[in-house]
Amino acid sequence: MNTFIELAKSRNSVRNYKEKPVEKEKLDIILESGRIAPTAANQQPCKFLVLENKNSIKKLQNACNPHNAPLAIIICADKNIAWTRPFDKNSMIEIDASIATDHMMLCAQDLGLNSCWITYFHPDELVKQFNIPKNLIPINILVIGYSDEGKTSKCLKKDRKPIDSFVEYL
Ligand SMILES: Cc1cc2nc3c(=O)[nH]c(=O)nc-3n(C[C@H](O)[C@H](O)[C@H](O)COP(=O)(O)O)c2cc1C
Repeated sequence: MNTFIELAKSRNSVRNYKEKPVEKEKLDIILESGRIAPTAANQQPCKFLVLENKNSIKKLQNACNPHNAPLAIIICADKNIAWTRPFDKNSMIEIDASIATDHMMLCAQDLGLNSCWITYFHPDELVKQFNIPKNLIPINILVIGYSDEGKTSKCLKKDRKPIDSFVEYL
């Protein structure tokens, strides 16, 4: 695989994983890809909470379905640090956290791993389970591992709308 577009097209959400853990070297590269993600005004409000042992994943199950993944990263961002647009007071907190999440999702793919982006979680339960401080807002969860979906793995790319429904040249 050579180009970014090939990498992006090769990825799909995986919702069943092997027990095989994610190698520490790969986890470090994934976290690095999140660290270098751009953020509004370079405020860098993100915090990545890494859950890599069975006990932490069990706690996570109280807040969402981690799809048997051996590794999950809760992508939080600090509401006191994220840049806010002065004109309408719109915080960039979700955008910053989501760019970091996307970097890590595609980085995982590049390393031969699979992932699923999760927002269907109970925020209050997540905060309770992991004692997340009030200023840190959990925005996304990225579960990562090796697919156990086998040949039944669905590639939803075919479900994407055609390019002309996305693009308008003005
Ligand atoms: C912002 C966002 C939130 C998502 N939340 C969930 C989720 O809570 N649970 C889930 O199983 N998939 C979730 N997904 C995965 C999407 O359902 C998936 O990306 C989409 O159906 C396209 O399929 P693909 O990832 O296989 O290309 C989310 C994806 C994004 C980008």
